[in-house]
Amino acid sequence: MPDTAQSDHALAGFIGECRRIADSVHDAADIVGAIAPLMMRLVHGDRSFLRAEHFRSNPDHYTRNAIHISDDESLSLYALVWLPGQWTPVHDHGSWGVVGVVQGILEERSYMAADGEIRSDCGIRLKRGGVILLDHGSVTTFVPNPDHIHMTGVAADRERVVSLHLYGRNMNSFHVYDVAAGTRKLIDVPHQKS
Ligand SMILES: [Fe+2]
Repeated sequence: MPDTAQSDHALAGFIGECRRIADSVHDAADIVGAIAPLMMRLVHGDRSFLRAEHFRSNPDHYTRNAIHISDDESLSLYALVWLPGQWTPVHDHGSWGVVGVVQGILEERSYMAADGEIRSDCGIRLKRGGVILLDHGSVTTFVPNPDHIHMTGVAADRERVVSLHLYGRNMNSFHVYDVAAGTRKLIDVPHQKS
């Protein structure tokens, strides 16, 4: 049995360090640069802070299990569980983010705004960019303005993925893009509470 107090202490330490960085560093690129090695340490270390409810999945769509949402909503951490063949829509976050893979191979497909910074919800031309495969222990980051536009998921012939996602706000909404129509809209994003 994991020592619950000790594992909760590890999580609290990670959140505390991230908060200190986010509160004291101005530039989002510097924030994710400072947090990335902390996330790597977290996903390589004792992960017993992850409880059964953080591994919940749904056969119909990927599942966002909330681990921590700070009282002032300036930080949020989720365990995302992806069954084979489950993907997000094309989206952005309007925030910085740091992602670490706990289990499996997570795939991220990038999109680029062909006309520079997006200032409207229509007339958006997106070009497909590269693909990155994130194996267990890998960490990736992104910053807003311009937003990192992407879709994330797991190929149908791969195993289940569990990944940790830390954001610089309560990630309860994001833009979803219709690439063919050249539009985007802000949607609410549900999550499972602990
Ligand atoms: Fe994302």
